[in-house]
Amino acid sequence: MATSTESPFKSNILKGKVALITGGASGIGFEISTQFGKHGASVALMGRRKQVLQSAVSVLQSLSIPAVAFEGDVRKQDDAARVIESTFKHFGKIDILVNAAAGNFLAAAEDLSPNGFRTVLDIDSVGTFTMCHEALKYLKKGGPGRSSSSGGAIINISATLHYTASWYQIHVSAAKVRVNGIAPGPISGTPGMSKLAPEEIGSKSRDEMPLYKLGEKWDIAMAALYLVSDAG
Ligand code: HXC
Repeated sequence: MATSTESPFKSNILKGKVALITGGASGIGFEISTQFGKHGASVALMGRRKQVLQSAVSVLQSLSIPAVAFEGDVRKQDDAARVIESTFKHFGKIDILVNAAAGNFLAAAEDLSPNGFRTVLDIDSVGTFTMCHEALKYLKKGGPGRSSSSGGAIINISATLHYTASWYQIHVSAAKVRVNGIAPGPISGTPGMSKLAPEEIGSKSRDEMPLYKLGEKWDIAMAALYLVSDAG
């Protein structure tokens, strides 16, 4: 069985690709950034916290991964446009967008203010759309003669809490931009777990999880890696 240090993929499957990862400096997003980089991609990280971005870039660069970070909030359209343009200017193209930025907290409906509700929707739903909207023109760019599998790719990191589908909206993804979703269950070592399920899930995972363990950030990164590679 593969461990967290062995990849089942060739180390060059993302060679020459440029990926922009929102929330890419922490949690699942950072593991995706790292694995994409280890498999040949250049990565741009977007996030709100300067210190977190700087330390993530240092770690990536210490692994010889071409990495850059841009401060920005996915709730702000200007930030989205600026970060995407900066990524394009820095690396010359954008092949992959991963929307891993998320906001969440536990609150009973009666204690959740409309602004709290809106805040999470603005980050998770509207922010994801805004990033896609601003990135599509770059993701759809490509030289003549490119193969159908070498177009842009979008990965939206979701959750299992709210399965939904977007019928009648496939026109956006029709022009060689694949859009996949990954819906992680509880993943160990993430802000989501420490914020939302401090003890119970971790200590009971043997009894309640089909695999007798929590998911790992690496699992999600490997799924993302498969989906953005030509194999996906
Ligand atoms: C009730 C809360 C609250 C809480 C914030 N609010 N925290 N309400 N309970 N614990 C309300 C505030 O009162 C305010 O409404 C509104 O939300 C906005 O709060 P701000 O603090 O001003 O927002 P901001 O500073 O922008 O922070 C956004 C955030 C924050 C979402 C609230 O938690 C954040 O930045 N999170 C990012 C990291 C994160 O959450 N990662 C985990 C993702 S896990 P009022 O009305 O007072 O103005 C995940 C899925 C995991 O997505 C699934 C696991 C199984």
